[in-house]
Amino acid sequence: MRKLIVLGLAWLACVSVACTQAPKNVAGGEIVPNGVWNDVDSAYINAHGGGILYHGGTYYWFGEHRPAEGFSTKVGVNCYSSADLCNWKYEGVALSVSDKAGDDIEVGCIMERPKVIYNVPTKKFVMWFHLELKGRGYEAARAAVAVSDTPAGPYRLVRSGRVNPGQYPQNMTEEERALNLKTEDYAEWWTPEWRKAVEKGLFVKRDLEGGQMSRDMTLYVDDDGKAYHIYSSEENLTLHIAELTDDYQRHTGRYIRIFPGGHNEAPAIFKHNGTYWMITSGCTGWEPNEARMFSAPSIWGPWTQHPNPMVGEGADKTFGGQSTFVLPLSKDNFVFMADVWKPKSLMYSAYIWLPVQFKEDGTPFIEWKNRWNLHFD
Ligand code: GAL
Repeated sequence: MRKLIVLGLAWLACVSVACTQAPKNVAGGEIVPNGVWNDVDSAYINAHGGGILYHGGTYYWFGEHRPAEGFSTKVGVNCYSSADLCNWKYEGVALSVSDKAGDDIEVGCIMERPKVIYNVPTKKFVMWFHLELKGRGYEAARAAVAVSDTPAGPYRLVRSGRVNPGQYPQNMTEEERALNLKTEDYAEWWTPEWRKAVEKGLFVKRDLEGGQMSRDMTLYVDDDGKAYHIYSSEENLTLHIAELTDDYQRHTGRYIRIFPGGHNEAPAIFKHNGTYWMITSGCTGWEPNEARMFSAPSIWGPWTQHPNPMVGEGADKTFGGQSTFVLPLSKDNFVFMADVWKPKSLMYSAYIWLPVQFKEDGTPFIEWKNRWNLHFD
């Protein structure tokens, strides 16, 4: 009998550890950043570099399925659903890799940072993600788009490629367009001359014909229904903001470059009281670095840089994480989402979700919390 009681107590202890480590508390909606986040079937949530779509009263979390060992994509883009952002049900693979040799999304490619938005006119769910082709490292730097009639998928790849071939950014001056900048004249990187040439559009020109590079990315749908693709371009040195067509499946050709040579990755964007805010990371691969923040009165700018929005201990390294998305819950209530990358076993990379707070002057800031409760008002 005593043995049974001891066993019972041990079991209770295990269950309560699981509960405190996983954000499962519906009533309290408790989030434990950087804890062990399991789905309702107690499987580790595998949805990295992700974003969340709110549709029909349900949150859909899309993210990279990452293997426990190795690097490239073996499965595809995962989807989880939840009514409360705490209890996540695995919906399966929203977009699967292809087993056909030569396909853009052939198994062994790299799919990163998927984001999904809903297109009202076509009633389609539209996913964009960063795609690298199998066996080519990170050189392809493509944007890919996939669609589905239902939120959780299955999604079908529409196409992948570089962005806006033949189009100059709106905010590149006539003088800059006329410059004869050639990469062979700037073979050595990081020199002052090279930096100046990058700022003036060295890589925009190099890639003009074939289209601009697109790696870390996010999507944003504005109040007027227009959608934008925001991505690290020009060898990850410069961010681009590009308008999507009304069906969200193509680029219109209208885009701007912001902070040329600023080396921004992992963009996450939201709008509060009419101001657009963007949080990014620096470029240090899987290693965390200091976040950056920018604001603008219009998506087309002018964009202004602010100090690091993270506050308190660990702020200089984004608490060990890298931004991926900012989820709006209501007018004044936003959740900052980041990944804590574990390159030795990417599947077990962890999640940091923290509330976005606002100073009196309206500037957002984010401070570490060991645990906190979601609210939806
Ligand atoms: C990071 C980037 C990730 C992934 C990684 C690969 O800088 O944000 O999305 O591309 O590099 O090393």
